[in-house]
Amino acid sequence: MFRERIARMISDANAFFTAEQEWKSIRVNTLKISKDALLKRLQERYEIKEMPWYENGLFIKGENIAKSIEYYLGYYHIQEAASMLPPLAMDVGEEDFVIDMCAAPGSKTTQLAMMMGNRGTIIANDVSISRIRALTHNIQKAGAANCIITNYDGRYLDKVGLKSSKILLDAPCTASGKIIKNKKMIDKWKYWRVKKMARMQKALIRAAAACLEKDGILVYSTCSVEPEENEEVIDYAIEKCGLEVEKIELEGIKTRYGLKEWNGKKFEWYDKVIRIWPQDNLTEGFFICKLRKC
Ligand SMILES: C[S@@+](CC[C@H](N)C(=O)[O-])C[C@H]1O[C@@H](n2cnc3c(N)ncnc32)[C@H](O)[C@@H]1O
Repeated sequence: MFRERIARMISDANAFFTAEQEWKSIRVNTLKISKDALLKRLQERYEIKEMPWYENGLFIKGENIAKSIEYYLGYYHIQEAASMLPPLAMDVGEEDFVIDMCAAPGSKTTQLAMMMGNRGTIIANDVSISRIRALTHNIQKAGAANCIITNYDGRYLDKVGLKSSKILLDAPCTASGKIIKNKKMIDKWKYWRVKKMARMQKALIRAAAACLEKDGILVYSTCSVEPEENEEVIDYAIEKCGLEVEKIELEGIKTRYGLKEWNGKKFEWYDKVIRIWPQDNLTEGFFICKLRKC
């Protein structure tokens, strides 16, 4: 069923199933070191190339990148290349109060902290206490000093009384965009999981919308390729949560529009959201949408 669904979404389904990732990716932690200084240290041991879509992203080849002195010192964070994109769509600044609703293990939280120059405030929330351990560790290692870690179920975050003009909802998902790293997921794929995740994502986006101030920005992202977890969640947010889609422009990466329709539902705003397909840039697949509260 998964194969048939992908073939309904794109004409190059074969490329989707066979794409392989050649490079690992890291993000320079400019809170601790400049890119030039890090490059000087790493280039002796690793093959490195620049990431065309993010100045602080690097592609890297070599052994033990999670065991180097520079890694332990927090000079870089190992982060999937496409996962660096949602924070770029947030347009954060030094004065912002940002909610990162599903933050663990903190790749995007620490990227946001870096983009905010360690100023402003980030509420880094996650429901899972075991994943909060990793989040805490990563925040500490990155030297991110503007983060408050919370442990709420995001579906009810609006009951806590938090309001913000910038929210990131990097939602839990079936992660089918990770196929480039894990071909075995094809055999484990189950439609009921897609539907279950979609229910969770709708509950999360409802709460995110309720926490959003008027004119505030919500960036919704998943590493799933399933329309039920992406376009259909956005459709729900527009219909039920008073949000409207704003066009995202990203440079240096091949992006495609969202799906125009799925199972008879039409998505008029399909050309404002972004799908990153694994075969286009040899990254994980991602869906990214920017919403504004009306
Ligand atoms: C895709 S991961 C987030 C990755 C993270 N943003 C990063 O860049 O490192 C999704 C996260 O959502 C969390 N999660 C799942 N259900 C949640 C809920 N109801 N409320 C808050 N967080 C939830 C999971 O524990 C998981 O850490």
